[in-house]
Amino acid sequence: MSNTTSNHPSEQHTASLPSLSYSDIESLKLPGLLHLHLSLFLGIFRPINALDPVHSKFETADLIRSSLPGLPPMVMLNTARAVEALFRAPPYSFGTASNVGVPLLGAETLFAIDGAKHQQHRKLIMPTFHGKSIQAYGQVMAEITHQVMAKWPLGKVFPIHPTLQDITLQVILRVLLGFSEEGRYEQLQWLFRDTLKAPLLAAFLFFKPLQIDLGACSPWGKLVRLKRQIAQLLLAEIADRRHQESQNDVLGLLLSARDEQGQTLNDQEIRDELMALLFAANEATAAALAWAIYWIHYDARVRDQILAELIDLGPNPDSVEIAKLPYLSAVCNETLRISPVTLFAVPRAPKQLFNLLGYNIEPGVLLSPCIYLVHCDPEVYADPHFFRPERFLNHQYSPYEFIPFGGSNRRCVGYALAMFEMKVVLAEMLNKMEFSLVSKRPALPQRHGTTFIPSGGLRVTAKLRKRQSQE
Ligand code: HEM
Repeated sequence: MSNTTSNHPSEQHTASLPSLSYSDIESLKLPGLLHLHLSLFLGIFRPINALDPVHSKFETADLIRSSLPGLPPMVMLNTARAVEALFRAPPYSFGTASNVGVPLLGAETLFAIDGAKHQQHRKLIMPTFHGKSIQAYGQVMAEITHQVMAKWPLGKVFPIHPTLQDITLQVILRVLLGFSEEGRYEQLQWLFRDTLKAPLLAAFLFFKPLQIDLGACSPWGKLVRLKRQIAQLLLAEIADRRHQESQNDVLGLLLSARDEQGQTLNDQEIRDELMALLFAANEATAAALAWAIYWIHYDARVRDQILAELIDLGPNPDSVEIAKLPYLSAVCNETLRISPVTLFAVPRAPKQLFNLLGYNIEPGVLLSPCIYLVHCDPEVYADPHFFRPERFLNHQYSPYEFIPFGGSNRRCVGYALAMFEMKVVLAEMLNKMEFSLVSKRPALPQRHGTTFIPSGGLRVTAKLRKRQSQE
């Protein structure tokens, strides 16, 4: 796409700039092969260690070019200005470059499909994750949280992240599959837990050469077999549900969906979408919850202010009222700003020459919005490395400045569900438990699958909150 195909404001702005090419963009110059491999390693496993120096070196550079051997040339978009130019361009002039999940999730997921098919699947899926549809799950979310908390070793140190994954997995299974056959529901939980526990899952997803199936005991072979079992269970559920009355969950919707020609989705398309939704929802929301618990207890004033809001709602708060609480909402936003669970949005691949802020980007170059660096921009966020929920009380950030869920035609379909779930789960936990962080040192982001969680899974101690136990 050239800058003549649209008249959106960012292109009007760039029209006056000289026409430069990809190679004119400032480059991440990495001397020496060893340094380069180290950077790649850091970029995948300890990305903040790689991104923070980029930030100090390039400060407010809108774009940074990086070309690493074996990977397509890439441009990182580091400012709201650059992200606006990308997100306001005609969305389907970019292809998806997100094949990372295909071996595990399948080829028919929202992440991997494009064009009219992508648009059609989103139209189908989006309504089930919004408004009244998700509010109906408030009670279930609180109950699941309650059941998981009942198994915590009170007074003892434990990593909270795996237990948050239990909550988000159970919630998304209910949202997607309703109250399906209990045996199958239990099996899916176990299989997903095993898959997500796989050591070096990220390395296997990002490095294709590691994806060699050397039998059930080899790391990739194990993952492939787990995926196969999950896929079989989902197909069995789909087959059963085709003979049952339609239900008001995501599977029910996907089964009854028809496009303009009356075509329905086939079993493989439905299975792949379910797989992707299960993975995306479970991983990202659990990571966001872990960061929220960390930041809430990093500063006692933040915790106390949330508790004050919750007390005003009475002992059995309604989930819809919880979701409206202004300070709790600001805390969730600030958590996602300062500790985004995915540091990059899905890379976009221009299908034709694309003019980005005056630079002509050829097809084949990947455009990668860096959520972390956009959220660190001191021109938008004063003192960006400080946790200040108040900034969200006094100001509405644009969809290019605050991008934890990405944007444009690929904006996260589950963002409303995730925000609602974060608030309901946090309210239930804070109402019932008192937490202490075990380490006094700042938590570092640690890679976990495709997301980043507080190091060590965030080790805490929990005890019953007195106010609640006396009631
Ligand atoms: C706090 C929790 C979550 C965060 C931070 C998050 C973040 C993201 C981000 C950054 C993207 C890429 C968007 C882009 O490139 O523009 C994305 C895409 C996606 N997310 Fe989420 N997500 C979360 C929860 C969920 C949940 C609960 C679901 C499902 C119910 C979900 C399903 C998806 C799907 C299917 C996509 C692909 C959308 C597409 O390509 O059309 N996510 N998410």
